[in-house]
Amino acid sequence: MPRRPFVAANWKMHKTVGETVDYARELVPRVGDAGDVDIVLAPPFPALPALVDAVADLGAGDRITVAAQNVHAEPQGAFTGEVSLPMLQACGVTAVIVGHSERRQLFGETDAGVDAKVRAVAAAGLTPIVCVGETLAEREAGRTFDVLDRQIDAGLAGLSREQAGAAVVAYEPVWAIGTGRVATPDQADAAHRRIRASLAARFGDDAAGACRIIYGGSVKPDNAAALMAQPDVDGALVGGASLDPAAFAEILAATRPPDSRIMEGRC
Ligand code: PGA
Repeated sequence: MPRRPFVAANWKMHKTVGETVDYARELVPRVGDAGDVDIVLAPPFPALPALVDAVADLGAGDRITVAAQNVHAEPQGAFTGEVSLPMLQACGVTAVIVGHSERRQLFGETDAGVDAKVRAVAAAGLTPIVCVGETLAEREAGRTFDVLDRQIDAGLAGLSREQAGAAVVAYEPVWAIGTGRVATPDQADAAHRRIRASLAARFGDDAAGACRIIYGGSVKPDNAAALMAQPDVDGALVGGASLDPAAFAEILAATRPPDSRIMEGRC
């Protein structure tokens, strides 16, 4: 069965509640009725409930779902400044980005920490969007595949086959994030194939074949189609370009399966 494309907007630390609602009003008419792509928006925590409500009020709750950018692995406790899965579920959040390279590099997240979060997210029935990817130094040292194998092994260690098949892995080469330097379609596809082989070794061919592996790192309207045309690229995790609803809608259009790539809603 072909994998359904999955495209997520990672807004990082951008947009207030009001700006979030305005964005939803601009995006929804641009994405049309076609339900052939999973569209996911990940705003900062304070905007999550408003976005879930706005999308539902705009009649797009079946096409657009809402993700968090992070979560704590414990359901509750003395963890000042943290947010739990039950809190996210109560807001209507259905997916969580885990292990983004900014979390790893700037906030000290480790493979073990990513593993704990991924387990908790999957056990709660939400979709983990697990980020992996090498730094420039690791790529130049020829260590890209070793890094990916390690991050996949460690980060998804706690999942059952079924949970691994339902998870989303985001390949985000650190050197391509926010730099305007995008991986070539061949580089992306080679990394995605390696990730799928790693998943197959751990979870079997069925789970590896079902898991969506999406690319992130300077995805823009003008490079999305070439990346998405690669057989093992199942969607995108979009940072900077997702902040503009028109640009994000263009990326969504480029991601649709070729037979449904229609121009609806883009005028
Ligand atoms: P970018 O960010 O699209 O701005 O490079 C991607 C990401 O960090 O998820």
